[in-house]
Amino acid sequence: MTVSARLRQRTTAPDASYQELCSVDSPARSPEEVGPGPENELMLQQLEIYAKEFTRYYWERRRLEKELRDQVEELRLSRQRIVAVEEALRKEIAELLHGRVQTKLVVVWHRLGQCIDLLTTDMTKAKALLPQIRDEIDQIRERDVRQAAHLLHPSVIQIGVLPAVQTLISAYKDYFQIAVNADPQFVQMDNPLDNRIQEEARLIIYRVLEEGLSNIHRHARATAVDINLSVPTDDSLNIAIADNGVGFDVSHTTPGLGLVSIADRVGAGGGAWSIQSAVTCGTRLIVSLPLTATGPGRKSQGLSSRTRVA
Ligand SMILES: Nc1ncnc2c1ncn2[C@@H]1O[C@H](COP(=O)(O)OP(=O)(O)OP(=O)(O)O)[C@@H](O)[C@H]1O
Ligand SMILES: [Mg+2]
Repeated sequence: MTVSARLRQRTTAPDASYQELCSVDSPARSPEEVGPGPENELMLQQLEIYAKEFTRYYWERRRLEKELRDQVEELRLSRQRIVAVEEALRKEIAELLHGRVQTKLVVVWHRLGQCIDLLTTDMTKAKALLPQIRDEIDQIRERDVRQAAHLLHPSVIQIGVLPAVQTLISAYKDYFQIAVNADPQFVQMDNPLDNRIQEEARLIIYRVLEEGLSNIHRHARATAVDINLSVPTDDSLNIAIADNGVGFDVSHTTPGLGLVSIADRVGAGGGAWSIQSAVTCGTRLIVSLPLTATGPGRKSQGLSSRTRVA
């Protein structure tokens, strides 16, 4: 067998030909030109080293190319999901404005008409009706318009995470008990006068808790919920929301837009998330975010068999 054939046999890269290997750092003469002897053996050993290096680089390049293709595909899917989530949000706001706000405004408009008629026929009744109409308008402003504004952007996060959490949980106080625990470092960082948690990170935390609470309300039948906010290391934040509800089989549940949007938001912030649940054992949603949010997406780590990450 020729030297080049022996060499080809020792490399696993399909296109790592002898010529390519020699061209990397070509010796002056080929092993065939040198002929048998110690010099040839030395050259062969050198070439073998080149061949191994070349093979390693070849497979490493293939691996990186695949990784890049996967990332581009993931990015494409993520954009699709973001569009779907935005569309769902628009639909919700449209339903809120059209269904609730408009219907209530029509009712108020009719009552005002009644009031105008009463002004000439029964002033006492008209006077009694006016405060009721004012209360109804106030309710529309306070509940429905505020809710639509919150869906678009929760301005309260400009103050801090904790005030925003208080606003969020107030909507659920009639359904389950909620305990909020923030470690002292978190409280210090979330100082409204000099908030050291970036606004992007605050918005992610808000949206995660918003979806977590909405899921508990809709699916969990829980009586108690714990929200934990902590700063486990100098450069990361942890958010955990746990309920004592019915739980669900994570591995047999297709995530809806809610969990998908959590995955996308947390991924876009450079964080990781996981959901742990089992039937009758409640559910725990955990998110970890870098303090300097908004890096490239990163997959979750350290997951148990009952945990799934979308
Ligand atoms: N805290 C929870 N307790 C029980 N089941 C849950 C909980 N959170 C999520 N689930 C289950 O996970 C599923 C997926 O949740 P996800 O938020 O992605 O979708 P969804 O709430 O069904 O719809 P939406 O897109 O409106 O959020 C839910 O349908 C539910 O079965
Ligand atoms: Mg949901």
